[in-house]
Amino acid sequence: MTRVFSGIKPTGHLTLGNYLGAMRQWAAVDQHQADALFCIVDLHGMTVDHDPARLRRLTRQGATLLLAAGLDPELCTVFVQSHVDEHARLSYVLECVATDGEMRRMIQYKEKSARERARGGSVRLSLLTYPVLMAADILAYGADEVPVGDDQAQHVELTRDLAVRFNQRYGHTFVVPRATLPQVAARVMNLQDPTSKMGKSEDSGPGIVYLLDEPDVVRRKVLRAVTDSGREVAYDREARPGVTNLLEILAACTGGNPEALGDAYESYGALKKDTADAVIEALRPVQARHKELCADPGYVEEVLQRGAQKARAMARPTVDSAYRAIGLLPPVAEPALNAAR
Ligand code: AMP
Ligand code: TRP
Repeated sequence: MTRVFSGIKPTGHLTLGNYLGAMRQWAAVDQHQADALFCIVDLHGMTVDHDPARLRRLTRQGATLLLAAGLDPELCTVFVQSHVDEHARLSYVLECVATDGEMRRMIQYKEKSARERARGGSVRLSLLTYPVLMAADILAYGADEVPVGDDQAQHVELTRDLAVRFNQRYGHTFVVPRATLPQVAARVMNLQDPTSKMGKSEDSGPGIVYLLDEPDVVRRKVLRAVTDSGREVAYDREARPGVTNLLEILAACTGGNPEALGDAYESYGALKKDTADAVIEALRPVQARHKELCADPGYVEEVLQRGAQKARAMARPTVDSAYRAIGLLPPVAEPALNAAR
């Protein structure tokens, strides 16, 4: 059976981009068709300035939202990254396979480190090494497929390179994974700046729809979305990024085709109204389930505990093999030690 792994960072409240680009696919398709693991990658939440209490809160909220979005712990494994030591164990080994040049070429590193330096801040070393930890997340489970939004494609490519290199140098150990991107909404753009991604960590609230935004807030944000000069509704990422983004969102929420929808609308106003309605309807069941789950925090904790146990058992043998293959001396097993005494 195909093994699937994916993760979400608890660096901010989850957005419509996370939902349409990733989570929805996990719930509707991946968990039914594959042996799937989904992880709140809290170690990745510490690569930029962070507040410990907020990280804890967002980790719990992220996990609750994964369940609210329809992930079923009977069908897939939901867990928190730091609960499974294997991720950090394997990450160090992969750092001994990756080069500093390839890390510095990662687009996200270049963008985020430039932003941080422009603010006069310092750049954490973990921001540079973070794609190696992501590779460890994936390779520890022998994942075949990694369902992600478009912005993560380069990191999955790096993961492939590291897996191939390790296997060539030290013997076959890792499955070489591939990214799977959604056909529609692989990159939902910021409603106020449709040339940049709708990212949860940015602070420009009005362009970001959060999964827990109330319906009237969603409506206001969508109705105020920046559109393009000209009046014709047409699907064209280059010339009409604002309208195209709305068409993508509408298509993703209603199951339509964004280009065909472009032909069906005469005015920006009608498109915005229908998009707002569609987003509100898409979020309604997620918000309702989230409310129920918040009333039962013990359930979420139990799911995470069971998830971590399952994940540990899956990752351990692969990470142990990687340790042996790269030349680390296996520890002497307890019974053998006792016998020698
Ligand atoms: P992150 O929030 O960066 O941890 O991303 C978690 C998942 O959501 C990854 O698979 C991302 O590619 C996806 N994702 C995040 N933002 C967007 C977006 N604006 N459009 C589509 N997918 C996204
Ligand atoms: N780096 C991913 C992001 O920013 C999150 C992530 C961490 C991830 N580990 C992963 C995604 C493993 C897929 C598989 O969105």
